[in-house]
Amino acid sequence: MSDKNLIIENAQVLKADGTVEETDILITGDKISKIGKVEKSGNATKIDGRGKFAVPGFVNAHTHASMTLLRSYSDDKPLMDWLQKDIWPIEEKMTAQDLYNGAALAAVEMIKSGTTAFADMYGPYMEEVAKVVEISGLRGILSRGLIGLFDGDKKLETNVELYKNWHGKADGRITVMFGPHAIYTCPPDYLKKVAAAAGRLGAEIHIHMNETRTEINDCIKNYGKRPFEVVEETGLFDCGTLAAHCVWIDDKEIEIIRKKNIRVAHNPGSNMKLASGIAPLKKLFENNVVVGVGTDGASSNNNLDVLEEIRLGSFLEKVSTLDLLAVPTFEALKMGTEYGAKAVGLHDTGKIEEGYKADIVLWDMSGVEWQPCYNPISLLVYSANSSSVDTVIVDGKILMEKRELKTLDEEKIIAEFKKSVNSLTGL
Ligand code: NI
Repeated sequence: MSDKNLIIENAQVLKADGTVEETDILITGDKISKIGKVEKSGNATKIDGRGKFAVPGFVNAHTHASMTLLRSYSDDKPLMDWLQKDIWPIEEKMTAQDLYNGAALAAVEMIKSGTTAFADMYGPYMEEVAKVVEISGLRGILSRGLIGLFDGDKKLETNVELYKNWHGKADGRITVMFGPHAIYTCPPDYLKKVAAAAGRLGAEIHIHMNETRTEINDCIKNYGKRPFEVVEETGLFDCGTLAAHCVWIDDKEIEIIRKKNIRVAHNPGSNMKLASGIAPLKKLFENNVVVGVGTDGASSNNNLDVLEEIRLGSFLEKVSTLDLLAVPTFEALKMGTEYGAKAVGLHDTGKIEEGYKADIVLWDMSGVEWQPCYNPISLLVYSANSSSVDTVIVDGKILMEKRELKTLDEEKIIAEFKKSVNSLTGL
């Protein structure tokens, strides 16, 4: 965190109630200490906010950062074929250095597209992703992806180690969760073990749920019940849960989600690209479920752009329900900010409000896509793209200013990334 005061002057500030006001933001240490004109600035660092839209940093509520290594490696295959024939075999070959290089490239992509926090599930070597979080200045909610079908206990132990070594580290920017991959890779007895281990540490859970119809049918065939019912019986949901996808859920499962306060990561881009289906967003909102958006990994999306997910999530729900108010504009944006933060378990980020963490992105409103400016929220959600991201602040520290990265060396990161790609695939 920064120990110096920072002032963003004369920006168009998006407030928590959805109003936009031209004013200043005073940042003291890692927190927003004032929204309003700052008369005495002392020796604070100043950022000229004129012509900039100050918006809470985006939260990517579900991704696999190091999968940037596999972007465009295998597309247009059914989920199980894609995982079993293409993805898992090459993931077996990945070294700790590869995971680091993949996550570092992802960090560059995330910062440049206005993301300040990401919930990641991958592994082994998740400590490498933690190192990237530490160096980049981003906020990371990290879990070791656990596949219980083989060597499950050993993998579970690495998640315990990750928690002990990294939870609360990087000035509190790292949260460690447990990451049982999915019901089709983690049998109920294994999920019970994960629940016990996470419960002992007070850690939460990040899991894929109900992504495809095949997954539901297999679960009913194997266990006689739907996935949320099977998992509920293991006690896993009692830890506090972030559930990704939640595409094929029935009313009984929505009731479990509601009852257990499960937060959902909606992944419209991945769900559309993999032809998985359409998550019932409006129904989840009607049941007061917290829904954030996630990109999923770069091999099933194929980028890490949260703004795209906000727009896709909004459009997909409008067209699938034929209700143009299914996701109003500001609600759509909040899936990437306030709701996203809640979804990943961050309670003092996601809003520009006094006392909240200073995770703020300044969007440059000078480009053609911002003209004319009747409504900046509408322009951001429906018109802008990530090339307008100008300045990124996390915990009061500047990670990018006027599109210049301050914590990461992009050129070097791309060069190292290419070495990893070459050693894995020969490309
Ligand atoms: Ni995923």
